[in-house]
Amino acid sequence: MAELAPSILAADFARLGEQLAACELAGADRVHIDVMDNHFVPNLTLGPEVAAACRRSTKLRLEAHLMVEEPDSIIPAFLAAGVDWVTVHFEACRQLHRTIRVIRQGGGHPGVGINPATPVHFLSQLIEEVDLALVMSVDPGFGGQTFQPAALGKLAELRQMIDRRGLTCDVEVDGGVDADNARACVAAGASVLVAGTSVFKATGGVAAGIGCLLGQMGRSVPTTATKETVH
Ligand code: DX5
Ligand code: ZN
Repeated sequence: MAELAPSILAADFARLGEQLAACELAGADRVHIDVMDNHFVPNLTLGPEVAAACRRSTKLRLEAHLMVEEPDSIIPAFLAAGVDWVTVHFEACRQLHRTIRVIRQGGGHPGVGINPATPVHFLSQLIEEVDLALVMSVDPGFGGQTFQPAALGKLAELRQMIDRRGLTCDVEVDGGVDADNARACVAAGASVLVAGTSVFKATGGVAAGIGCLLGQMGRSVPTTATKETVH
């Protein structure tokens, strides 16, 4: 069964704890924290303190998506904040094996992401080293962008690479994921779907957004979720 990771980039930061509680009740699996440095991407977002605040307010596992040039020096702070997965970008690291080692030796699950313009086979030399491979379905930097359908072919190619080698690493898709493409993402081989706008800006609230996505993913919605009021 594929997992759902709401991206808090689209959350109401003034009510973050409340919104994380709503995600948990509605059946989300992980929390996706988008970290942008205004160098690798033209935007500036969340740091380790926000990750620590998430850790205090939810039992859900946390993943930090580092859209950061040469992230090695900041990785320990995210691990200390209680993040479980740290995903870095193929395009942003000069010595990826070293960066992956920093994450692993710090006690985290390493992940590596590729932009829409980066081919899947670039992951070939390091896929054995990571616990998660991320296919971006938008150019990273902003929430609320439109899903690029070419990501589906890349997910299928990545799934094939991983299965052929007998690996168990997660295949994640991030950017513009919504009820219209969630089913296709799972069918193409994704094991984790990241969703920001379609969760936190859903008509009807967070629980409705998550319920709709889980339905498309072939998952049942927890009974507690339906009793909740709109968040
Ligand atoms: C884009 C981020 C995504 C994004 C997801 O750079 O990595 O996680 O915020 O948000 P939506 O689902 O709105 O595209
Ligand atoms: Zn992300």
